[in-house]
Amino acid sequence: MQKIGIIGGGAIGGVLAQECATRKLAREVAFIDPAPIPNSDDPPERQEVMQKQSIAGGKTLDICEGLPIIGSDVKFSWSKDYSALKGADLVINTAGVPRKARPDGTFPSREELLAVNLKITKMVAAGIKEQCPDAIIISVANPLDAIVYTLSKMLDPPKGKLMGMAGALDSTRYRYFVAEAANVSVENVNALVLGGHGPTMVPVRSSCQIAGLPVESFIDADQLDAIEDRTRKAGGEIVGLLGIGSAFSSTAWAALEMAEAIIFDKRKIIASCAFLTGQYGIDGLFVGVPTILGKNGIEQVLEIDLTEAEQAALKKSADAVRGTCDEVDEMLKTL
Ligand code: FUM
Repeated sequence: MQKIGIIGGGAIGGVLAQECATRKLAREVAFIDPAPIPNSDDPPERQEVMQKQSIAGGKTLDICEGLPIIGSDVKFSWSKDYSALKGADLVINTAGVPRKARPDGTFPSREELLAVNLKITKMVAAGIKEQCPDAIIISVANPLDAIVYTLSKMLDPPKGKLMGMAGALDSTRYRYFVAEAANVSVENVNALVLGGHGPTMVPVRSSCQIAGLPVESFIDADQLDAIEDRTRKAGGEIVGLLGIGSAFSSTAWAALEMAEAIIFDKRKIIASCAFLTGQYGIDGLFVGVPTILGKNGIEQVLEIDLTEAEQAALKKSADAVRGTCDEVDEMLKTL
């Protein structure tokens, strides 16, 4: 691949940039972040200093200065606006404010976070439209379902070119908890988590296997219930522990699993937040489902067999996603 654009210089963006260098995923990597943004109330001298600072620039230079050690000739560029994104073939969007505890230990409400992140997403969409309108987009920023929906509204990308990273992360979490409980290698566990990236997500027990055998042969139903509950709350568990943000290593690796499937045209089956046109009885909505990822992005949405309970849970999750999209529509009117 010629060029990957990474939008957002936070913790996830930083891991993505490092890994792009280490794994040599493209000839060029562009790193975009407007921060720090000068505050117009600050004295002019302070504003001038902040104008010269750049989180994307600092992280990029840090990585570049280490490239000789890891033997990587990936060419990095960065910008505080979207100019460095020009001509990118693949964009990974991480831009947004993460959930983090306030000094008193409380968290911002979902609506507060949504309003801030929708404003950021409008700028992200405008930047992509101007600089790389044909790029495949993997969006990682939270709230995942709302941000993917907003990007689709603003960019109206061709089928399969826009997807959200949620199922890849939720599935790896489910796999890890299963491997830990069964005391087997993580490599032995296959599992999918479908639906929205929130409390209604659907860990699919009927397709969860350890070395090709049903997971129930290794772990009893009560323990699986607890594992699935933990999977649904896994993002929040990390936010609570960190206190300064949300998960970033596993998040970046999950996005990279999707990116590598696309870059190397692997046709790998990964749960992605994909636009559905009737599959699973869901129409006109981005929802997490099993997809084949290859050089064109989402090559195919797979319809797998689900138990009746799993089908009902997926419908409930899709209804929740639809509710979020309605909320986004309302908010976008005033942003
Ligand atoms: O802040 C969050 O909602 C994090 C989500 C996640 O790590 O899955």
